[in-house]
Amino acid sequence: MNKGGHIGVFDSGFGGLTILRGIVKELPEYSYIYLGDNARAPYGNRSKELIYEFTKQAVDFLFTKGCELIILACNTASSEALHKIQQEYLPTKYPNKNVLGVLIPAAEYAVNVTKNNKVGVIATEGTVNSGTFVRELEKLSPKIKVVQQACPLLVPIVESGAVDSKATKLILEEYLAPLREQNIDTLILGCTHYGLLEKQIRDVLGNNVEVISEATCVPPKLGDYLTRHEEISKKLRRDRSVKFYSTDPTDKFITLGSEFYGEKVAVEKLTTLEY
Ligand code: DGL
Repeated sequence: MNKGGHIGVFDSGFGGLTILRGIVKELPEYSYIYLGDNARAPYGNRSKELIYEFTKQAVDFLFTKGCELIILACNTASSEALHKIQQEYLPTKYPNKNVLGVLIPAAEYAVNVTKNNKVGVIATEGTVNSGTFVRELEKLSPKIKVVQQACPLLVPIVESGAVDSKATKLILEEYLAPLREQNIDTLILGCTHYGLLEKQIRDVLGNNVEVISEATCVPPKLGDYLTRHEEISKKLRRDRSVKFYSTDPTDKFITLGSEFYGEKVAVEKLTTLEY
């Protein structure tokens, strides 16, 4: 496994397994290493500086394990740390490698499907406050009006398994009301966990709003990227393997992680990240 040529997938915890699941389904031939930093999750309400430090450590770990390319399958890390990693860290430390995020694929998808140019984004506080979705969407189409809503209660709801409760319905109605008032026709689920609430969100929004999940739109974009970047894809190992690491592989990681990933995950504890 250490011989190199892997694709690394990183998340603050196990939410990124929903995205890995989509990627492995779309591109099964490659070799993947997943890292969930559960010991320090959630990232959603942490400072930008800390998210950058944690993400940098994860990137170091995955490159040390022989990854050629890393996907930050965490919206908070993608919006708070990716730009600096790409602009400042990679050029000096890993000039031949790359790190990609999940926001741009979702933004590109949204710009293609919206008809009235009103796009909603729901995400963690960190992602919303960074303004990264707004910048990326406006860069793709200056006509777009973006309505953002931070939903800090949704990650704990998904992690507690309460997705179908009455309380969850009320909370979703409250969070989604401002987006409905603004008449959005497209909603980006800008957090790894929200795909697990997709049905409940659709029930509140009705059929006229297109709901975009990253587990669906990131994998084909990764495939396009690998086709365009032969200098990376030719170095990738094609042995159909997936290895999981976590900084705190509790029973919950195994149970919920297996649910998120769609099959049982065997996870190894990682002790090398600094605290
Ligand atoms: N993975 C995070 C995200 O997509 C959600 C969980 C967290 O806050 O760490 O933003």
